Amino acid sequence: MDSFNIRGGVPLKGDVTISGAKNSVLPIMAATLLTRETCVITRVPNLSDVKFMADILRSLGAEVAFKGDTLTVKAERVSGVGDYEMVRKMRGSICILGPLLARLHKTKVSLPGGCVIGARPIDLHLKGVRALGAKIRIEGGYVCVNAPRLTGAEVFLGGRSGPTVLGTANVLMAATLAEGVTVIQSAACEPEVVDLANFLTSMGARIQGAGSPTMTVHGVKELHGAEHEVIPDRIEAATFMIAAAATGGEVTLHGVRADQLTAVIDKLREAGVRIERSGALLKVSRGRKLKPVDVTTLPYAGFPTDVQAQMMVLMTLTPGISIITERIFESRFMHVSELARLGAEIAIEGPSAIVKGGAPLSGAPVMASDSRASAALVIAGLVAEGTTQVNRIYHIDRGYESIDDKLRSLGARIQRVEES
Ligand code: EPU
Repeated sequence: MDSFNIRGGVPLKGDVTISGAKNSVLPIMAATLLTRETCVITRVPNLSDVKFMADILRSLGAEVAFKGDTLTVKAERVSGVGDYEMVRKMRGSICILGPLLARLHKTKVSLPGGCVIGARPIDLHLKGVRALGAKIRIEGGYVCVNAPRLTGAEVFLGGRSGPTVLGTANVLMAATLAEGVTVIQSAACEPEVVDLANFLTSMGARIQGAGSPTMTVHGVKELHGAEHEVIPDRIEAATFMIAAAATGGEVTLHGVRADQLTAVIDKLREAGVRIERSGALLKVSRGRKLKPVDVTTLPYAGFPTDVQAQMMVLMTLTPGISIITERIFESRFMHVSELARLGAEIAIEGPSAIVKGGAPLSGAPVMASDSRASAALVIAGLVAEGTTQVNRIYHIDRGYESIDDKLRSLGARIQRVEES
């Protein structure tokens, strides 16, 4: 398995361009299954999750082609099931359920099971499609969904931890081709949901209220092909902002939607990070002194769970006590014990991590667990004295386009070590 070898201590300096958003492009790719016509998607990041989703679309009968960052999909005929091997490898693939149901009126998708960041249930996805008239049966680890007719309905999608991003995407996609009007209450407001809604609208869907907790969908008979540019990845942007601040460098991010990063910018400023905003540029530097802050992850527009691990690294460098509370996924603290291997002092109390910051980090071999935790370990490695080896970096390649090349262009000493 490949690893990163990082020699820490270099402040990052220079310019970096942010890629298209992973969590936008995956449901958008699934949405291409809703039409027989050709869809063209641009600013597609080169990620292993995107390649994997392309394989899923191919296995369902679609023609898929990449040219640079442009992806063309034509799903003239669609058949098949979302099998266990697919859904197990990438939980995001559950968002084929809504489009397959709308297109085929019948589908079978494996239940995802748990993962390192928490239980990842799909009860809300199923509640939503059931409200549209689908009959659901669980058989052999698969959810079998059948709906000769999908009919618009009022659906409440709020769960224990708030709305569900991919659940909203699934119900939204199914509702585009349902008869009548669907109202999704407690819909996820994440920019990735809005991006999906914009793509669906350009395919001919009639959607109002995207980005708010109430979305209304007037079903249409069919959708047509469309072109769409994916939004920039706000999580990648946040990761580079934190890396710049943590290393004491100065980095200008290009192609950013700062309006989608308000909670992150606000919290980083509170922590003493200097951020200047000008159009699609964000210039980030450490500022004079870092201050401890308390962070709670929340649904959008709150602080994103996908930036929690990276923020924790910044807090380990900040003298004083910071409390980081995870409210979206119950066990998203796998990075804590790895950061402890580098010398970080962090205690977990229920949903909170109490970070006693200020001790110097010292390089060591560490293990990546999910994409965001891996990014946090890379940031820690960039700061730590000596060499840090981050193992199992396939997790990072799932969510970050060429992170090693981008970091090297900012001066980082990071090498990919390929295992023969
Ligand atoms: N939940 C339920 N029932 C459901 C669905 C979700 O209880 O039917 C709970 C979850 O267990 C969790 C909360 O609701 O506690 C929120 O989960 P959500 O459904 O919103 O997560 P998701 O849609 O499966 C997406 C992103 C995640 C990101 C979360 C939260 C994609 C492909 N994944 O997951 O991204 O953390 O939203 O913002 O869009 C990542 O990029 O590394 C990643 C994990």
